[in-house]
Amino acid sequence: MSKSQAYIDANQQKFLDELFELLRIPSVSTDSTKKGEIQKAANFLLDQLKSLNLNKVELFETPGNPIVYGEHCPHADKPTVLIYGHYDVQPSDPDDLWDTPAFEPTIKDGNIYARGASDDKGQAYTHVKALESFVQSGEEIPVNVKIILEGEEEIGSPNLVPFINQHKDMLTCDMVLISDTAMFGKDQPSITYGLRGLAYMEVEVVGPNRDLHSGVYGGAVENPLNVLCEMIAKMKDEDGVIQIPGFYDKVIPLTDADREASAALPFDEEAYKKSLDIDDVHGEKGYTTLERASARPTLDVNGIWGGYTGEGAKTVLPSKANAKISMRLVPDQDPKEIAKLFTEYFHAIAPDTVKVKVTEHHGGHASITNLDFYGLKAAAKAFEDVFEKDVLFSREGGSIPIVADFKKILGVESILMGFGLTSDAIHSPNEKFSIQDFHRGIKTSARFFELLPDFVEK
Ligand code: BES
Ligand code: MN
Ligand code: MN
Repeated sequence: MSKSQAYIDANQQKFLDELFELLRIPSVSTDSTKKGEIQKAANFLLDQLKSLNLNKVELFETPGNPIVYGEHCPHADKPTVLIYGHYDVQPSDPDDLWDTPAFEPTIKDGNIYARGASDDKGQAYTHVKALESFVQSGEEIPVNVKIILEGEEEIGSPNLVPFINQHKDMLTCDMVLISDTAMFGKDQPSITYGLRGLAYMEVEVVGPNRDLHSGVYGGAVENPLNVLCEMIAKMKDEDGVIQIPGFYDKVIPLTDADREASAALPFDEEAYKKSLDIDDVHGEKGYTTLERASARPTLDVNGIWGGYTGEGAKTVLPSKANAKISMRLVPDQDPKEIAKLFTEYFHAIAPDTVKVKVTEHHGGHASITNLDFYGLKAAAKAFEDVFEKDVLFSREGGSIPIVADFKKILGVESILMGFGLTSDAIHSPNEKFSIQDFHRGIKTSARFFELLPDFVEK
């Protein structure tokens, strides 16, 4: 065993204690009152990088949250890996559904329970500790590394794309390494080679100038909440096909090879249903559950409100109705174009009795990693060495829009080396991350750096 791998085994408790310190900081990027906590998390990571004696460590201020950056590139003849992660987290609410407080990390049954444990503090931190394992055990980091940790991923990375554009030379690299996805299953390492994109819309339907008595006016005046429900119902047909004209125009259809690869994955649909307490799955006709959840586009209402929702029965006809609607996208759909098509359709199907307004929130492009890329092969071998199991290649339904931007701006592939599990409850109450996978994650990252130089195609 190399000195760095031995260092990782010997320092499990130290790594865990440090991660807990990071997890105790409520760095929620959606909450503008948490700016101080964002600063704290950024500074914690900055200090961590400073302790590694890298060539360069810097905190970059942006119009939003700071970017933590470090680099160590002493080898002229070795590949350069740009590690990316995010230190911001989703809000913890509803807090009453957490068994233990979201920002007081707690160990139970081999898992760390805390907001950000899996998404993404725990996962991003594996790479920081992997770098430490070389530095502190007296080994040289075997490749050139750059590391960029942002604090705005959960709000759509508004300042990261401009930053990458402004610092193209500094960020030059041969590949990006990201741990912000899930493994295919427990003890089943996998590399994610596809992510979906996103277009996120908010709609408003306005009827009468005030809430009305539903007996006095009901039946004679349009109810915006009824209208909104009818309009949402027109978004898909009974086969689950999205009805927005042009929506599928740029979708790259799944090939037979894609479908065979997906069908060969060891997916247990019964266990999936059981884990969610549902009697059956549901989705676009003609596709499997895995395809629906990772390789096909979707349209979903994320929230809907209007009228009376308090205690008891208040008889009211609401003046307004609102909804948030997300569309997960696949290559080569363009989020801006899809947002425009959605907006046109929403206006087109609105009856004359209401006024509608559509606004667009952040979005991003889908991405696919080239399976022949040598970096993926090194990553697969690293997983196999640490987990002692063959690695699977799968696509995932979540979005990390910056992956497409790295490809576009820096021209490089991203390796999605996820150590989480789909059951980690990211964005939900009781988010968790396996202690064992945190440990194996650090080892896999370090092993990847050891192996990579030998995989470079001459
Ligand atoms: N880490 C997730 C994305 C993810 C989760 C990818 C699981 C694959 C598997 C990331 O932090 C996230 O939550 N992304 C958002 C989109 C972003 C633009 C706010 C998402 O997917 O909703
Ligand atoms: Mn994430
Ligand atoms: Mn997230």
